[in-house]
Amino acid sequence: MLKRTHDCGAIRAAQVGQTVIVNGWVHRRRDHGGLIFIDLRDRSGLVQAVFASKHVDLHIQASQLRAEYVVAIEGKVVERSPGTVNKELPTGEVEIAAEKLEILNAAKTPPIEVADARTEPDEMVRLKYRYIDLRKDKMRENLILRHKVIKAMSDYLDNDGFLEIETPFLTKSTPEGARDYLVPSRVNPGRFYALPQSPQLFKQILMVAGLEKYFQVVRCFRDEDLRADRQPEFTQLDLEMSFVEEEDIIGLIESLMKHTLDALEKDIDLYRGKLIPRISLPFPRLTWEEAMGRFGTDKPDTRFGLELADLTGLTRAVEFKVFREAPMVKGINIKGGAKFSRSELDGLEAAAKSFGAKGMAWIAISAEGLKSPIAKFFKPEEVNAIVERMRGETGDVLIFAADQPKVVHQVLGELRLKLGEKLNLIDRNSFHFLWVTGFPLLEYSETEKRWVSNHHPFTAPHGSWDGIEERFLKDPASIKAQAYDFILNGTEIGGGSIRVHRPDVQAKIFKLLNLSEEETKRRFGFFLEALEYGAPPHGGIALGLDRLVMLLAGMESIRDVIAFPKTQAALCPLSGAPDTVDPRQLKELKIKCL
Ligand code: AMO
Ligand code: AMP
Repeated sequence: MLKRTHDCGAIRAAQVGQTVIVNGWVHRRRDHGGLIFIDLRDRSGLVQAVFASKHVDLHIQASQLRAEYVVAIEGKVVERSPGTVNKELPTGEVEIAAEKLEILNAAKTPPIEVADARTEPDEMVRLKYRYIDLRKDKMRENLILRHKVIKAMSDYLDNDGFLEIETPFLTKSTPEGARDYLVPSRVNPGRFYALPQSPQLFKQILMVAGLEKYFQVVRCFRDEDLRADRQPEFTQLDLEMSFVEEEDIIGLIESLMKHTLDALEKDIDLYRGKLIPRISLPFPRLTWEEAMGRFGTDKPDTRFGLELADLTGLTRAVEFKVFREAPMVKGINIKGGAKFSRSELDGLEAAAKSFGAKGMAWIAISAEGLKSPIAKFFKPEEVNAIVERMRGETGDVLIFAADQPKVVHQVLGELRLKLGEKLNLIDRNSFHFLWVTGFPLLEYSETEKRWVSNHHPFTAPHGSWDGIEERFLKDPASIKAQAYDFILNGTEIGGGSIRVHRPDVQAKIFKLLNLSEEETKRRFGFFLEALEYGAPPHGGIALGLDRLVMLLAGMESIRDVIAFPKTQAALCPLSGAPDTVDPRQLKELKIKCL
């Protein structure tokens, strides 16, 4: 084999006159009669090789090349004539005058055209032929960016005294709110391991073990409904520290992000076209109440306005029953929205209903006065008070939701995002990191008819731990958690908390969550026992690496930053997983399919 002397993307004018050997894939072949041009691609980029007809055999050989053939080319680096310089390519000032060609492997006509950056084949095709899809610049650059993020983060933590420690995959269930993936144990028939939803319990046990500063780049497994930012297996940068408070973890993550973004900026050439955010610390913080109140969500996208206005106090005495009787009335002033057509407003109302609203009242403020299906139910001073509270001006349209707070926030939070997109208010080049703190510890589950943890049951409450039972009996919703979520552009990219390190308090919390003593013992006995042997105060966080890299790479789906992701139906089109298994295997496992 002609062994390479240079990477394709590394050839420059400095090599003019040298004989080089490059190896790679045929990106494009252009036949110009006498001359055949081959754009050769390897991981580093493209270089052009020229086959002249005067080398008859070589020229015939080159004419057989097809897209994605793997070849080695030897030749002399020459300057391109001024008219043919390609400014788009780092190697565009030169080309290789080919002298030898070796075809290392042929390729079938690929179902994905690697050289075509514009058309996006169907995702099933992209995933089935992932090895071709990953040859595209965009995908390669995403994977390089991902590697660099992980490397920078690991370096930072290593430098700060953290140890990377692996925790088991074949383990017991760790509750993070999803279903478990189960693995049957052949040697213990009828028993199952659960793949971890996160290393939560093991990382806490590492703190009991005195390791003090742990981190891990770790795969987590959650059987839940999939979305663009959710995969059944995904990667966390998980960490835990002893003798810390909320501020320590928040401060650590802020420095970690700064270090990571600085490191990325240095390597920007490797992922051209990506925009590495410039940040200033500290990141803004919102309490959960403020986030819900102003944005209708606990993961606000603050790249644009359209904040929610609370009108509840103004609607107590109005004639319109829907507003008068609702526990909460809030609205959004859509600046310039009065230009919306009736059918656009109907479309918004339909969207509001799909988000759980019973309706969506509106008031358009036009030059001719107010237009609204509900204006007739209000006295002029009542409407004026609403318009004033919402800072309504001519050209605006005000939209309203009246309902339970949960519904109002859900509906207006979703409508706000939709409007942000529709009105093009989102600056795609800006990055808004922020923290949400002061979450409620618990939330009432209508389906389970009990209070459940908002994060997970190991999260420490604010305030007196000893009085936790009394506080729970008095007003469970008022107990705040020492928990924090990390948000980027409206996506939750991390979450963590200070933990309950006292076994008596942890046992009480399980009890308040309505877990029987027997169930607690069966599921978490080993963990409660560990807390009895000198557990230090501790806390931590996990960052969703796929989501963070997706946002840094400017992608819409985490599938674009994962080498081998699964479809929305949790399938791997490349390998065909999940698959049926040999009946013999089931027999060995003593498992019968229903
Ligand atoms: P949490 O469940 O909030 O916390 O997860 C942390 C972060 O992981 C990411 N994430 C996901 N990414 C892709 N696909 C998924 N299905 C998925 N689920 C979660 C999110 C999220 O913010 N053990 C705790 C952390 C702790 O308390 O230290 C935990 O796992 O970005
Ligand atoms: P109705 O009296 O049901 O015809 O509603 C009058 C207007 O109020 C319509 O524009 C409805 O969309 C709107 N509306 C109805 N219920 C609600 C609600 N819960 N919140 C906000 N607007 C509503």
